[in-house]
Amino acid sequence: MIFGRKPKVQIKTPEQIEKMRVAGLVVGNTLKLIQQQTVAGMTTLDIDAIARAELKRTGATPSFLNYHGYPAVVCTSVNNQVVHGIPDNYTLNDGDLVSVDFGAIVDGWHGDSAVTILIGNVSDEAKALSDVTRRAMWAGLKAARAGNTLGDVGYAIASIVNAEKRWGIVEDYVGHGIGTEMHMDPSVPNFGTPGQGLTLELGMAIAIEPMITAGHHHTQVLDDDWTVTTLDGQLAAHWEHTVAITESGPWVLTELDDSLARP
Ligand code: MF3
Ligand code: CO
Repeated sequence: MIFGRKPKVQIKTPEQIEKMRVAGLVVGNTLKLIQQQTVAGMTTLDIDAIARAELKRTGATPSFLNYHGYPAVVCTSVNNQVVHGIPDNYTLNDGDLVSVDFGAIVDGWHGDSAVTILIGNVSDEAKALSDVTRRAMWAGLKAARAGNTLGDVGYAIASIVNAEKRWGIVEDYVGHGIGTEMHMDPSVPNFGTPGQGLTLELGMAIAIEPMITAGHHHTQVLDDDWTVTTLDGQLAAHWEHTVAITESGPWVLTELDDSLARP
């Protein structure tokens, strides 16, 4: 977090935002393939392999591989794992919930997005959790317009989650600015007070990524120093998109469907 100083936020030209759209589409296409292909019986390493093949095909560079030593191109976080799960030989089972987070660089510009995938017949709770997380993300994305503040964005996200009095909002991890690096200023919390915090300006780009839990919001990091789990062992979901603040409103750069992505 960046309390006590005013974050210096990278401002992109319209041409640079177009370049981020190219990276965003690579990320969106890759996650779409992963959503279509991920079934029970696959391992989380199989998901990483889909992304690696797509990086090879497109010539894009992975954002995550070697980032502070991270060993894969995607994060796969299963059930009680919140974020930053490392792909391994774990075999996905019917009823699992897995979030897949992926970032790529094209021509120096980053895209970052995550989806939660429900494997086969999942519990009503898992369905509702993924759904509320996705709706909360979209509420945040819609609030990402010039003149609004990060408090407005966080409030929009939290309002969706808190409308149903059954979920926790993870506070230990937040969204972020993005551009020529994956993680830049500002921090983008999934909660906030309307009118508070940094005012969004044209040319800013942020990744909005609510992490929502079925129980308490507290988290812990496993011994692998990466995997974040809920402290109480309950389910967590994670959805993420990269959005640019443009003249005509939010442009969701990692959303493939133009009618949803474009203001
Ligand atoms: N994409 C994640 C985020 O949304 C970060 C992944 S951490 C890494 O912030 F090490 F895997 F890169
Ligand atoms: Co991110």
